[in-house]
Amino acid sequence: MKHRTHTNGQLNRAHVGQTVSLCGWAATLRDHGGVNFVDLRDRWGVTQVVFRPEPDKDLHARARELRPEYCVRVTGKVTPRPEGTVNTKLPTGEIEVEVQSLEVFSRSKTPPFEMEGNQAISEEVRLKHRYLDLRRSATQEPLFFRSRLINAIRQHLTGREFIEVETPILCKSTPEGARDYLVPSRLNHGEFFALPQSPQLFKQLLMVSGFERYFQIAKCFRDEDLRADRQPEFTQLDLEMSFVNEEDIFEVIESMMAEVFEKAAGQKLTTPFPRLSYADAMARFGSDKPDLRFALEIRDASEVFAETGLKIFKQTLDGGGVILALKAPGAGGRFSRKDFDDMVTFAKSQGAAGLAYLKWTAAGIESPIAKFLKAEEIARLGELLPEGVKEGDAVFFAADKKRPAQLLLGAVRLELARRLGMRPQGGISLAWIHEFPLLQLNAEDGKWNSEHHPFTGIHPEDTGLLGVDNGAIRSLSYDLVLNGNEIASGSIRIHDAVLQEKVFETIGLDPEECRKRFGFLLKAFEYGPPPHGGIAIGLDRLTAILTNRESIRDVIAFPKTQKAICPLTQAPSEVDPVQLKDLGLKIA
Ligand code: AMO
Repeated sequence: MKHRTHTNGQLNRAHVGQTVSLCGWAATLRDHGGVNFVDLRDRWGVTQVVFRPEPDKDLHARARELRPEYCVRVTGKVTPRPEGTVNTKLPTGEIEVEVQSLEVFSRSKTPPFEMEGNQAISEEVRLKHRYLDLRRSATQEPLFFRSRLINAIRQHLTGREFIEVETPILCKSTPEGARDYLVPSRLNHGEFFALPQSPQLFKQLLMVSGFERYFQIAKCFRDEDLRADRQPEFTQLDLEMSFVNEEDIFEVIESMMAEVFEKAAGQKLTTPFPRLSYADAMARFGSDKPDLRFALEIRDASEVFAETGLKIFKQTLDGGGVILALKAPGAGGRFSRKDFDDMVTFAKSQGAAGLAYLKWTAAGIESPIAKFLKAEEIARLGELLPEGVKEGDAVFFAADKKRPAQLLLGAVRLELARRLGMRPQGGISLAWIHEFPLLQLNAEDGKWNSEHHPFTGIHPEDTGLLGVDNGAIRSLSYDLVLNGNEIASGSIRIHDAVLQEKVFETIGLDPEECRKRFGFLLKAFEYGPPPHGGIAIGLDRLTAILTNRESIRDVIAFPKTQKAICPLTQAPSEVDPVQLKDLGLKIA
């Protein structure tokens, strides 16, 4: 016999009179004057089933022994709910099932938390009992969404002749720059595999092999400090193509995203996505992942204050710094004295010495710095700022070296938008940020590091700058930003062995070290590597944003906590001394 004839989300008025069998969990149980109602739950929904005292006394007695989360099957007749008891919120709310037989598959202990309703439950407890947590529809939802998303991605890419290839999990350290998870080798004591931080080098090898269009839904492992958008083990849509430039990669991702958003989320996207150079994004929004759902643009006001009498501005400019300005429309009228103080405190929490501001009121300009400014400076500031300044506005200033000043106003911009209610809850804003710097100077050791990874290509106009003006070199890397979050990153790669070596040299990787770490790739590049490039989308981040979840932990079936442990399985854990001995390991 079949376990069930219908699911718990299926029955409606059209089924009245039919005898049906349903399976599921007892979600809620109610006793109304001796008549027992049970809401039976499965992944498709909830159906109300009814046990009456007559005619089957034995069945009724057994029904009264049911407890929440018992797993059962019932068979009975679909009947319309009596007048006044219809639940219009439920797809099955017009009917109920008069139970004629009950089978209890298994009983349940009292769950450690309420399974129904919206009570706050600590994450620790939820994750410890994740199988129960995931029995609840609100926790299941993002996983269903994620599955639809991945399905749509696979369909789209295979439709465009991409081949899905699995790359090794036991491999050699990859160049993403986080700490590796290591796996000791039993057969080669003292030697270790690294779990891949990404399939980066293998996908480049696949290009050397001539596959041309590769993708993979790839698990990546990085032992780094965790945050809401970071897990030690996460998933990328990893992709690589040959004989392409940046435009080709952008087109593939844009058309894929348009189709996938439509299919999985019912959202229409406008393509192409806007593009901003890194320099532009930093100058206008103070961030390499600007949230473009609201305006608020930074302007460089250094010229305005070139001859200023305000000491702090003057000193900054004389020291080679800049004065950046950000207008907050309406903040002058809406912000209290405390709000302005809070903004200063906020700036200090970002590492700034302070945050100057001007406030336009009916009585004129109010600010601790107003008396040091000339009328002409105020007038020129008004000309500089988008749509000028008027009564009720406020303007905030950062006086520092260019990059810290940009970053400060970038953070202030987000904080202002939050306080002014300009930051929308939903909406979709996707943008490409490209032409990132190739190299970044490490202030501590004075060495140049790759901003993305050392295989990133160089902007054709900037190849001559390598070793000459390293900080000015633009790379061929790009990020995709969604509502102020970096959701993808990639680049056109270097396929020229000589140039590659020069980059290694510039970032201080000596040839022996390179040979040891990436020798196999360099060797492969001796055999006709095609021009190639690719990208990887963080699927956890994308899913979390599209399902409005705060943390990527909510869109991963069995996530780790912030401390990188799994409360459910208690991993990581100690191992048997025999296992250690086999591996040739001793705990220090
Ligand atoms: P990158 O290191 O920028 O690039 O990673 C690509 C995307 O992966 C996501 N991501 C993460 N998601 C969750 N937890 C983490 N710890 C985590 N780290 C990264 C982000 C990020 O944008 N091999 C290159 C790609 C390429 O060049 O093709 C790479 O891995 O959304």
